[in-house]
Amino acid sequence: MEATAISKIGQRAGSTARVRGWLYNKRSSGKIQFLIVRDGTGYVQCVVPRADVSPETWEAAEKATQESSLAVTGAVREDRRAPGGFEMSATAVEILGPSPEYPISPKEHGVDFLMNLRHLWMRSSQQHAVLRVRSEMEQAIADFFYEREFVRIDSPILTGSSVEGTSTLFETDYFGDKAYLSQSGQLYLEPAAAAFGKVYCFGPTFRAEKSKTRRHLTEFWMVEPEVAFLEFEGLCELAEDFVVFLVRRALERCGEDLKRLERDGTKLEKVQKPFPRITYREGIRHLQQKGFPVNFGDDLGADEETALCAESERPLIVSRFPTAIKSFYMQPDPQDPEVVLGLDMLAPEGYGEIIGGSQRIHDLALLEKRLEEHKLPREAYEWYLDVRRYGTFPHAGFGMGLERLVAWVCGIHHLREAIPYPRTLKRIYP
Ligand code: 4AD
Ligand code: MG
Repeated sequence: MEATAISKIGQRAGSTARVRGWLYNKRSSGKIQFLIVRDGTGYVQCVVPRADVSPETWEAAEKATQESSLAVTGAVREDRRAPGGFEMSATAVEILGPSPEYPISPKEHGVDFLMNLRHLWMRSSQQHAVLRVRSEMEQAIADFFYEREFVRIDSPILTGSSVEGTSTLFETDYFGDKAYLSQSGQLYLEPAAAAFGKVYCFGPTFRAEKSKTRRHLTEFWMVEPEVAFLEFEGLCELAEDFVVFLVRRALERCGEDLKRLERDGTKLEKVQKPFPRITYREGIRHLQQKGFPVNFGDDLGADEETALCAESERPLIVSRFPTAIKSFYMQPDPQDPEVVLGLDMLAPEGYGEIIGGSQRIHDLALLEKRLEEHKLPREAYEWYLDVRRYGTFPHAGFGMGLERLVAWVCGIHHLREAIPYPRTLKRIYP
């Protein structure tokens, strides 16, 4: 008999089905065993009554331990109390692969222990739910840009230049030369905006972050749009539309997973346009009034970000940062030349920055001056300067860290659970 995915088991209600999966949990009364089987698409309770099954089947059900792989055949019926809403009365249970002493028992474990077993931990229901939400968000990102006729341009991972400062570069030997793992695809996307108009890239990015915080990974996925002739106001709107689209998608399609994570959906439902906006200067004033010892020119840390968002249930767009604390490529504000047309979008509930972006300098001479001020090696950026040499144009873009989005949408505390195999200061295993 062909196997049915557990998520589709309802279609076989009233008839027989065969499912294949892993034993999630088991209860036994001596006369009846209740096996909860999961196959990645869902969970189903299989009831095995001793009186009605062969001795082989009874023995298999008895022997099956947590995470043994199994095939179960039986009659399917609706049962509202059962996890998933359906139950199977097993007629045959077969162990496909035993699982002696599975290390992650249902009791509480420390995060380090679980992270060392990340390859197994992803089977457990909460981790599984987070990674499904992540997958849905990846699809939604592609859909958003596809619907808006962006062209996807993949940026390289091995690069010769830094985008976001030299202090977080991973360096590697490149046949006797130096290469760096990409911190952002942006520089490669800007020329593509001149070739295609609206482009985006989406891939892994790397930062040698030496700080150990819940918001930093050394390898994370970033999605970055870049749009020709888009200026700062339009950029803020694009970022806003993007986040509203993604959150709505999570609510529409990840209901089960969010429920499993006990995520308060009403909080996500409030993520509607327009998002509140403040300038960095206003932000500093607010913070000073709240007693923070901050001044113009200071970077906003996690506590400052949380304080700024405290009154808002929607993400907050902070704009116009001091030139000195932002990247070399950001366009100065013509109204206020001490600041740049850059934005950070801060998620509510203390999740902090999920998006960073800006209008780009499109004046060749100014960009050359900035490279010098930032002590960046001119030769490595000659190709990038060509974007300003041959038909320069105003343009803008942003980057969103996928794990930051997923952590917020799922309501999880630490970014390390928002990626299948996290890489942090202290972790490269498994
Ligand atoms: O603000 P960032 O550094 O901006 C850029 O890289 C620009 N070049 C993007 C662009 O304009 N095309 O990073 C963008 C986003 C942050 O808002 C955050 O969501 C995420 O990337 N991010 C990280 N996520 C996890 N771990 C880290 N260490 C991260 N650093 C940045
Ligand atoms: Mg940033």
